[in-house]
Amino acid sequence: MQATAIAQPNIALIKYWGKCDLGRNLPAVGSISVTLKDLYTEVSVTLSSDRLQDQLLVNGSENLPMLARISACLDSVVGENRARALIESSSNFPIAAGLASSASAFAATTVAAASAANLNLGTDELARLAGLASGSAARSLYDGFVELQNTAETISVKSIRDTESWPLQVVVAITEVGPKATGSTEAMEISRATSPFYDSWIDQQEQDLDVARLAISQQDFGSLAAIAEHNCLKMHSVMWASRPSMMYWNSATMRCMQAVRQLQEDGHRVFFTIDAGPQVKAVCVSEDVDAVAEALANTDGVREVMTSGLGHAARLVNPS
Ligand code: DP6
Repeated sequence: MQATAIAQPNIALIKYWGKCDLGRNLPAVGSISVTLKDLYTEVSVTLSSDRLQDQLLVNGSENLPMLARISACLDSVVGENRARALIESSSNFPIAAGLASSASAFAATTVAAASAANLNLGTDELARLAGLASGSAARSLYDGFVELQNTAETISVKSIRDTESWPLQVVVAITEVGPKATGSTEAMEISRATSPFYDSWIDQQEQDLDVARLAISQQDFGSLAAIAEHNCLKMHSVMWASRPSMMYWNSATMRCMQAVRQLQEDGHRVFFTIDAGPQVKAVCVSEDVDAVAEALANTDGVREVMTSGLGHAARLVNPS
C-alpha cells in the first residue's frame, strides 16, 4: 500500500484566475501552461490500517497547514473510508511562494495515492482528481504545452504541443522565499466578489486563449510573448483592484520585469509571467537562455535563479 510519484510544476501562460463552482473547484476560465522539466516534487503515499491519522512530512518536517487539503485529496482519490496515510513530499524548489508548488504536490499526491490504493485510473481521471484539489494541478498530469478547458461540467485537460518540437526554456527568478500572504483559492474568491475588472477578465479569456493556441501551433514566439504578458498583467490588475487589494510583487519583481524589457530591446526572445507570488518566470528560446539567466541573476534583489526546459507529465517512480 505504498507508492511514489513525481510531478513537475507548470507555469501558466494564459492564467486560471477565478472559479465558477467553488465546491467542485471548477475554473471560471480556461488556461494554457507549460510543464517544466527540471523542477519537481516527489510524493510517497503509504496507506496503513494501523495508522490513526494522516501525517504529512514536507522536506522531512511535519506540515500541519497543508494537511487538511492533502487529506481531502486522498479522500477524493481513494474514498473517505480509506486507511490513514503517511505522505512524504520533497521539492527541489521553494514551496508556497507562487511557484506552482501546489500544482506539482497535488499532481504527485493524486498519482501516488491512486497507485497505493491499487486503483487503475486513466490520465483524464487523475487530472480531474488533481484539479479537484488544486485547479492548476490538473495541468501537471500532461507534458509540454497544456490546455485546461473551461467547461461548466468537469475539468478537461489536454496536451496541445509536445516539447521536442518547440523546446522553450523557463528561467525562474526567486525574489523572496516563504509563504505568500493570501492563498490562491481565497484570493480568487476575493477577486470575484470585489474586483471591478473581474467580469471583463472572464469575458476576454476566450480571445486570449485563441491567440495563444494559434501562436503555439505556429511556433510564433512574438505573438505568444505579447499575449502571455498581457494576460498576466490583466490578472494582476484584477488582483490589485480587489478589496482588499492583493499585491504579490515586491520591488525586485518589478526590476526583473524591467530586465526582461531591456533584454527584449536588445533583441532577445523572452517574455515574463508572474503568478500569485513575487517570483518572475522568464520564458525564452533556447539560444537566449544564458543571457536571460545572467541578466536576472544580476538584478538587484534576486536571490536565486533556476532554469528549466519543458518536460514531463506526472508519473509513478519505479512502477511495478
Ligand atoms: C495564478 O491552482 O493554486 O497560478 O484551484 O484554488 O488551488 P486552486 O488555485 P491554484 O491557482 C493557480 C493560479 C495561478 C494561475 C495559474 O496557474 O493558471
